[in-house]
Amino acid sequence: MTNLRSSVTVIGAGYVGLVTSACLAELGHTVVCVEINPLRLAMLERGEIPIYEPGLEELVRRHRTDGRLTFTDDYTVAIPAADFAFIAVNTPPAADGRADTSFVFSAADAILAHARPGLIIVTKSTVPVGTGDALAQRARAGGHASVKIVSNPEFLREGSALADFMVPDRIVVGAADPAAGRAVAGLYASLDAPVIVCDRRSSELAKYAANAFLATRISFMNEIATLCEAAAADVEAVARVMGTDRRIGPAFLRAGLGWGGSCFPKDVRALAAIAADHGHPSALLPAAVTVNAQQRGRVVAQLVAAVQGRTDATVGILGLAFKPGTDDVRESPALAVAERLHEDGIRVRAHDPVAMANAQIVLPGIEYCHDPYEVAVGCDALLLATEWPDYLVLDWHRLRERVRGTVLLDARNALDGKIASAFGFDYRSIGRPGAPHTVTHLRVAAEARVERQAIAD
Ligand code: UDX
Repeated sequence: MTNLRSSVTVIGAGYVGLVTSACLAELGHTVVCVEINPLRLAMLERGEIPIYEPGLEELVRRHRTDGRLTFTDDYTVAIPAADFAFIAVNTPPAADGRADTSFVFSAADAILAHARPGLIIVTKSTVPVGTGDALAQRARAGGHASVKIVSNPEFLREGSALADFMVPDRIVVGAADPAAGRAVAGLYASLDAPVIVCDRRSSELAKYAANAFLATRISFMNEIATLCEAAAADVEAVARVMGTDRRIGPAFLRAGLGWGGSCFPKDVRALAAIAADHGHPSALLPAAVTVNAQQRGRVVAQLVAAVQGRTDATVGILGLAFKPGTDDVRESPALAVAERLHEDGIRVRAHDPVAMANAQIVLPGIEYCHDPYEVAVGCDALLLATEWPDYLVLDWHRLRERVRGTVLLDARNALDGKIASAFGFDYRSIGRPGAPHTVTHLRVAAEARVERQAIAD
């Protein structure tokens, strides 16, 4: 593999496109990022970043300054000199759950209109299996037989996208043409990561399979958590036993409020649709979705029961983002719970360190507070819905002084239940019946590491 400095064009300055552009520039390539939304383009040209992602603004600024990263809306500027054209546009879910690939195809058409012979088009967008074949067919039909299509899916987590790009578990390259595959792998040659080269269809499917597997794994743990509550067992202990098995591993075994975000829900539904389209409807994936929905329902039911009969029943919610470290509230379990309580006529007071502006757009009817202590005022029950680090070090005395009722539902198993109980809270968590626990998943993860190390030694 070579690490030639290449000319790369990235179509789309959304989450994936912007991270990919900035990180490819960091790897030494010259990157032109095409954004056709005029407002977004104007922001980027002013040096502003339209999304919240730690470190991204700094990286974009650095490479705009050193000239390795530029933004444009003009394909005639961006494409003719490019060696590679990455498609990083979104593939939103259609009403039936299928991924809508129309932006991918219109980007491909715009690229092909200006492509030089030998251009390599790389799909970063998450696309249904067979999309690369259809793009290749489109290129051939348009007289661009020398243009190659390579699949190179992303595995970027919001909040740690830069690290996921620069220190990836693996780089996946799916290509029908071996030389084109090698060329795409070469773009990443300076990274110390295994490269898996496979056929294009497997690469496309692997992205969906990875996300759907992780989502299913979490749903499995949430189902086990429900069983733990019924059987007087502790899901944290169960997860610890499971996670120290090398065949299972400790990650993504945290029971809680379930999964959300811009990827898992969309990708699980899209993979189910792909399976049905291929004549093999999935049995597992709909079940994973059902368990995820039930998990929110169980939390809502607990809170409704806790505030029943109170005049002006009020629930305080800590955290609205779909997970810590992001301002994204898309498909957020926390926001879904807030909405259900609000619809049930319960007063909802809420706080999130960064996602409040986005939450207010989607759910304007609830009360947004400046901090957790303001949330607590007059609440009959409190819910920890997103495990932001700020919420793990709360002043329990201050909170206790402000609430009206004492129920504290830790739906992420992140708090120290013994301490909360010592300050008079009726502490409850997920899949851990009985006395309040001090073992949090953070400590479990650390202990699992120590145990694995001990086994290895
Ligand atoms: C995910 C994938 O991880 C990434 O590889 C992909 O390309 C994009 O989708 P992201 O959406 O940023 O990334 O979120 P992730 O960190 O994977 O978490 C997804 C959801 O699962 C969150 O709602 C999180 O709270 C939940 N989760 C995660 C659990 O409930 N339990 C766990 O053990 C882990």
